[in-house]
Amino acid sequence: MLKILNQSNSVANHFLYEMRHLEIQKDRAKFRNNLRRLGAVMAYEISRTLSYKKETVTTPLGTMEVDLLAEQPILVSILRAALPFSDGFLETFDQADVGFVGAYRKEEGEEIGVNFEYMATPSLDNKVVIIVDPMLATGKSIIESINHLLNNGKPSHIHIAAAVAAPEGIDYISRMLKVEHTIWTGALDEKLNSKSYIVPGLGDAGDLCFGPKL
Ligand code: URA
Repeated sequence: MLKILNQSNSVANHFLYEMRHLEIQKDRAKFRNNLRRLGAVMAYEISRTLSYKKETVTTPLGTMEVDLLAEQPILVSILRAALPFSDGFLETFDQADVGFVGAYRKEEGEEIGVNFEYMATPSLDNKVVIIVDPMLATGKSIIESINHLLNNGKPSHIHIAAAVAAPEGIDYISRMLKVEHTIWTGALDEKLNSKSYIVPGLGDAGDLCFGPKL
């Protein structure tokens, strides 16, 4: 299943506009803050699809039944651009456990490959897992990450959360991922360029958050 936030208008459009804007995006603090805010609203949308259980709350004046999350999802951040995005998720799911994956793109001649270096997560068995990675370009780092994550347990459902996605990445994930999953994105853009960057996209999200790396 694919859910695209900007198919219905909301303030998320403003966050994405500023993140894409050639001048505004140069303000790193603003870029990170918009990514965080987008994470918080996307997490809210995901929360509407989760399971809830009845609980009784006692107020100073009486008691009532309310519906609360049956359990917290587990957030998994793919370093490094996911850090501000997952901060937003953590604002919404403020009691969630968080795992980390170090996976980044490497150019192999004409091809874009993935370097996988690090993983630290709790058990994922029977859990709802939200994998947070702002730029869903080729989809290869997500698939490589999930293949490793499955060594830490089989989730009941995987949500893949992106700020911007390319159709090529969505197709790749749909073909390769056999586990029950939903892909969420702020916007679905036109295509990848020859360097596998999303067009029109916003550029390199990691660099925009934290500066260029060697
Ligand atoms: N990663 C990014 O940061 N930007 C893209 O367009 C694709 C991958």
